[in-house]
Amino acid sequence: MNRTILYLSILSILALAYCKPKPQITFESIVTEEFRPSYHFTPESGWMNDPNGLIYLDGEYHLFYQYYPDSTVWGPMHWGHAVSTDLLKWEPLPIALYPDSLGYIFSGSAVFDAENSSGLGTNENPPMVAVFTYHNAEEAETSSDTFQHQAIAFSLDKGRTWEKYEGNPVLPNPGIRDFRDPKVSQITNPDGSNSWIMTLAVLDQINFYSSPDLKNWRLMGEFGKNIGAHGGVWECPDLLPFKTPSGETKWVLLVSINPGGPQNGSATQYFIGDFVNGKFTPDDTMIRWLDYGPDNYAGVTWSNLPTEQNRTLFIGWMSNWLYANVVPTKAWRSAMTVPRELSLFDVDGTLLLKSAPADELEKLRSEEYGVSQEISELPSEAIEITANVNSDSFSVTLSNELGENLVISKENGLVSIDRRNAGKSDFHRDFAAIHSAPMSWEAKDIRIYLDASSIELFVNDGELVMTSILFPSSPWKNIAVSKNISSLKIFNLKK
Ligand code: FRU
Repeated sequence: MNRTILYLSILSILALAYCKPKPQITFESIVTEEFRPSYHFTPESGWMNDPNGLIYLDGEYHLFYQYYPDSTVWGPMHWGHAVSTDLLKWEPLPIALYPDSLGYIFSGSAVFDAENSSGLGTNENPPMVAVFTYHNAEEAETSSDTFQHQAIAFSLDKGRTWEKYEGNPVLPNPGIRDFRDPKVSQITNPDGSNSWIMTLAVLDQINFYSSPDLKNWRLMGEFGKNIGAHGGVWECPDLLPFKTPSGETKWVLLVSINPGGPQNGSATQYFIGDFVNGKFTPDDTMIRWLDYGPDNYAGVTWSNLPTEQNRTLFIGWMSNWLYANVVPTKAWRSAMTVPRELSLFDVDGTLLLKSAPADELEKLRSEEYGVSQEISELPSEAIEITANVNSDSFSVTLSNELGENLVISKENGLVSIDRRNAGKSDFHRDFAAIHSAPMSWEAKDIRIYLDASSIELFVNDGELVMTSILFPSSPWKNIAVSKNISSLKIFNLKK
């Protein structure tokens, strides 16, 4: 073989190897893979954490997310992307934002700049603008404190392709190590003009900034000193207006915290109060948790929902930094919670935040099974259970043929999910645990969403919520309920 032919053959072998399509994960292999949820969002492969850039535009719900495609443990962050028209089926789209010389792409939000205030689009084709944190990983290894900055990128084709703004960063770091996770919303000023408000996590506090154009930001107020839980750093905030049951306007500030949650590790607390001229004033000093389970973190809400939807729509990352990197899934790590609708309700004069499953979830229901009080067989791994509870103590036990079980109960004013014997747990010493939440008021009904590796419990349609991931060695097969549970229904959820 002469030299040219040898080179050509090597080149063609290399070309073939290079062009050979990577093994694709098909939809079939995804739904049959161990622990892969059927109706919760998961990335096809790789690592996922926080939901980012939640925005609705022209009939599509966009879900961006913290993503590391090259591994199933956390690493250089990208923004992964998926869209849905019904919040149930998600179409995976190409990665939206890649890390670059300014750093990894950390968490943030997206807005529709309808008036083209940023000048990044045109009046005819206004831009979708993503506001995110650049995290310079190399600098973070040094003694520098200025490795996180806020930046923007824009899309003129409904989020399909993105361009980073050439003047980044738009909010440089003032010398604070933890300076991240911008959540931007638009508010209307008393004179009718609009302002952009950025809610930003800064160490264990929140800063509010205002901007006319998403490029120039001015500090308006700070919140959090000596109030709320401070067992860890504050992350992924969100600021939301609500109507109270009596028709007043109140603002809710969501703040994720890691560690320092009520069940160890990460969790989301919230404050209720007034927001005026960039200053948030809480009504009281009570610590409130959005979800009392261990596995709902960094959740935020969708922007730009049509006013006629008249709702606040939330999704969270269904894991906990305590063990997220070591849970026993293979091709991918982590799922999102089901989408939830947030609203305020009143218990004996105290306002609390309720998270109900989004209405769309009812469309997943296929066969319905009425169940007797006796142990009955469950139809699949993906089910919804609804029931009335007519006493202040009840229990529901799910079990499999290997003797593993999962117990949901209320007793002595505590709602609990016991996952001590619910399957694989040896990957982390704190995983096998019973988690409890105080509920001083009456429980009337429960709604449970089960999927291959999770349970979401909604008491009184979300007045108390607990989200927990689980890794049963074989699917739950049986259900047993206590005597004081009535109208028990089980829905098989279609995929
Ligand atoms: C929260 C968080 C954010 C950060 C991102 C990095 O889970 O730590 O504060 O932007 O994850 O992936």
